[in-house]
Amino acid sequence: MKSPISQLAGAVQESPTLALNEKAALLRERGEAVIHLGSGEPKTKTPIDAILAAAGKLTSAEVKYTPTDGIPSLKKAVVRYTEENYGRAVGAENVMIASGAKAALYSLLLAILDPQDEVLIPAPYWVSYPEMVKLCYARPVIVTPEDGRFEPGLKEIKEAVSSSTKAIIVNSPNNPSGAVYSEQFIAGIVEFCGEKGIYLIMDDIYHKLIFDGKKSVSCYKYSRDNPDSSRLVAINGVSKLYAMTGFRIGWAVANARLIATMTNVQAQTTSCPSSLLQMAAVGALNGVQSYVESLKSTLENNRNVMIRELEAINDVRVIKPQGTFYCLPDFRAYSNDSVALSRRLLEQALVVTVPGREFGMEGHLRLSYCQSMKETIEGVQRIRWALDPNSPKEIYIGDRKCVRDWK
Ligand SMILES: Cc1ncc(COP(=O)(O)O)c(C=O)c1O
Repeated sequence: MKSPISQLAGAVQESPTLALNEKAALLRERGEAVIHLGSGEPKTKTPIDAILAAAGKLTSAEVKYTPTDGIPSLKKAVVRYTEENYGRAVGAENVMIASGAKAALYSLLLAILDPQDEVLIPAPYWVSYPEMVKLCYARPVIVTPEDGRFEPGLKEIKEAVSSSTKAIIVNSPNNPSGAVYSEQFIAGIVEFCGEKGIYLIMDDIYHKLIFDGKKSVSCYKYSRDNPDSSRLVAINGVSKLYAMTGFRIGWAVANARLIATMTNVQAQTTSCPSSLLQMAAVGALNGVQSYVESLKSTLENNRNVMIRELEAINDVRVIKPQGTFYCLPDFRAYSNDSVALSRRLLEQALVVTVPGREFGMEGHLRLSYCQSMKETIEGVQRIRWALDPNSPKEIYIGDRKCVRDWK
């Protein structure tokens, strides 16, 4: 008898984070004071411009299919966004709207990858990249920087390239490390991929969430490719910058032929992103942009507080993140098994963290600083309590007696 599950789908990794989240939810249901430092979304409310635009569409009672590649007004807003933020003049034929940056990326991979093609993924990386590549019958090749830093090494990337390499996925500011790659790296990788004819996929979903007065470098600045055949693709969306994760709107900017192919893929899979939610994205992109600035300054304050608290834990090494709302401290002085460490922190200190193993960085934990400052401080202080052999053996968190049991 044929196996009920395909080999392809069966090989997709189940995330250990889901199990941890379920456990955290159970504890919360029981009334335990769990602090979530594992979240991947800002806690701020949706921008009012997005709500009003979507409400207008909803009250028209005309919520229908849209063109597969997106409604003209959203494509126009993305064209303007690309010009303003990347200094690149593109046309509507260079833009495809999708149901989230993730969906844009998956349609892109389906459009460019043949079975056994290789895709280079610098570690630490967003968990979905390797699995999405596998879902295209292609092979993820992980490149880990040897110097323990979070910026990929150009030399290591060049060494990992083979005749099967079709694409490289670069994500800066980076989930999970918060690292912002240097201009020198961006210039080098754009030039290298241009010379080799390798697709350079820039996942720019956090590109405006950069701190300390810095700005992201436009990948187009160093591209000398012919725009009609360029293999440079920018992926973006409203999820993180506008705290609109539940709206599921993202997009890709690429050469017109590739966009047309991706649109064919999308036509046969999702038909089109929701017309209602596309209108919300138009509202966000055309509305008051101070929203993004204020989100950024809230996150920057939280980042400063989280780093201060982490630095107070003996032997935890932390590289200050320059963007996003994540950091990836090194806990190897305490454990080389990040899943076990994460589980113990949840059980003993009621704090949710994400194991670094998920991101190709064993011995690290991803901590988010998008919750309130109070939760950020208390969450890290609980971790410190759980790890520090000199801290009291027992404490109360709410009504729960927590016992530190760390060797
Ligand atoms: C690096 C990265 N890319 C893409 C996404 C997905 O974005 P979207 O919600 O638009 O699908 C995420 C979400 O966590 C992410 O961290």
